[in-house]
Amino acid sequence: MKEIKKITCIGAGYVGGPTMSVIAQKNPNVIVTVVDLNQARIDAWNDADLENLPVYEPGLDAVVADARGRNLFFSTDVEKAIDEADMIFISVNTPTKTYGKGKGQAADLKYIELCARQIAAVAKSDKIVVEKSTLPVRTAAALKSILDNTGNGVNFHILSNPEFLAEGTAIVDLHNPDRVLIGGEDSAAIEALVQVYEAWVPRERILTTNLWSSELSKLVANAFLAQRVSSINAISELCEVTGANVDEVSRAIGYDSRIGSKFLKASVGFGGSCFQKDILNLVYIARSYGLTAVADYWEQVIILNDHQKARFAENIIQTMYNTVNGKNIAFLGWAFKKDTNDTRESAAIYVADHLLEEEAHIVVYDPKVPAEQIYKDLDYLGTRSSEDNRRLVTVVNDPYEALQGAHAVAILTEWDEFRTYDWAKIREEMKKPAFVFDGRKLLKRDQLTSIGFDYYAIGE
Ligand code: NAD
Ligand code: UGA
Repeated sequence: MKEIKKITCIGAGYVGGPTMSVIAQKNPNVIVTVVDLNQARIDAWNDADLENLPVYEPGLDAVVADARGRNLFFSTDVEKAIDEADMIFISVNTPTKTYGKGKGQAADLKYIELCARQIAAVAKSDKIVVEKSTLPVRTAAALKSILDNTGNGVNFHILSNPEFLAEGTAIVDLHNPDRVLIGGEDSAAIEALVQVYEAWVPRERILTTNLWSSELSKLVANAFLAQRVSSINAISELCEVTGANVDEVSRAIGYDSRIGSKFLKASVGFGGSCFQKDILNLVYIARSYGLTAVADYWEQVIILNDHQKARFAENIIQTMYNTVNGKNIAFLGWAFKKDTNDTRESAAIYVADHLLEEEAHIVVYDPKVPAEQIYKDLDYLGTRSSEDNRRLVTVVNDPYEALQGAHAVAILTEWDEFRTYDWAKIREEMKKPAFVFDGRKLLKRDQLTSIGFDYYAIGE
């Protein structure tokens, strides 16, 4: 088996950056180069001030500090990095298609194909090509066909090695994964990748499968996780009308070891770049094989999630006497979950959009998301002009500024710091009655109501 001395990763995003940093940290004898077309992103990865890394993840700065400049490099020279590598990870984005056949459902594979063509054009020696991006089942066949037909007569072995890290806990997840999954056909290529991971992952947690099982397992893992969130969110609505409390129900069912306690936290709806995209992709694949019942079953997970976001916004409007026109609503949190600066598909975007349609004035505070990202997210929806988004939405750097004079507070992200605020002082400075709409069940009802808030939480 060939020893891997140089690894290249194409794509320096939320997955490529942290994953390769840990691979480099744990394999000091392997040179790891992460490349991207985005110069600003690469500059940020190379920034001497680790506060400026493009991805915020607890513990990432320490890992980068360990390896960067030693055996971890970030560059925009894609061709050189491809040429020199023994093993190439493809970790580019695979968003939902926004055009043509499969629009709004299928994964857009144009970035993946571009990578394959570039690898084929540049490679002068045999390469192991690893799919790190999340891909539709059977993508490896398309990759192989491109590589074999346009290459320079070199051998390519394709492996599927999907990533299971969650944002906000990426470094813990990478250091101590439940499992590493490697799918492939060539046992020597599989073994080469197993050795990279064996530097820190116990062998029994490295699973090997055929290519198609590995590709499909990634979509299925995300579908099952998202399904649990939609399941408990469906029950949250039932709790609200029956007097049950969704946290108590979660706890009661989670004690059953067959069900398990994780991923049963009711919320304003799941966000993030992957759950929706990957389920839509699964639905699209099932439909394309004519499996209508299968497709409809999984589509319901998305439908329920959209319902949950809309329901949260509607509840705010109804509770505030059926009008939010001109009222100040303070948004605590914009990221799709705590401990990340990622806002992709965040529930906050859709809740805000719904309230802005009613001409609410929203003041946003998020500890990690900058103002330009918030406006970009709203502008992307195209519901109203960017001038109107700027007229109706203010972004502040101080939470107390957001809450000053607010008619209501909506908690969209479960940042720990929100718990530590002086809620009595906040109430004093808000309009009365002072409403709190807790989309994360973060605060304590008893505490808030004793201060005098009108407190509403999902599933209570
Ligand atoms: P991202 O958008 O943060 O990063 C992708 C990067 O690839 C971008 O910086 C982009 O500039 C770069 N890129 C695109 N085409 C390129 C090309 N031809 N050459 C060089 N660079 C190119 O995306 P991400 O969140 O890191 O996700 C990447 C993949 O990993 C997706 O398939 C996603 O589904 C999957 N995934 C993501 C997560 C997550 O938590 N974000 C977790 C597991 C799996
Ligand atoms: C998810 C998976 O957990 C990862 O295993 C996977 O690698 C990744 O998607 C991916 O493929 O991108 P991520 O989206 O980063 O990770 O974060 P999660 O912790 O899964 O949370 C997703 C969303 O569900 C968040 O909005 C979160 O707030 C919400 N959620 C999660 C709930 O509302 N309730 C829960 O009990 C759990």
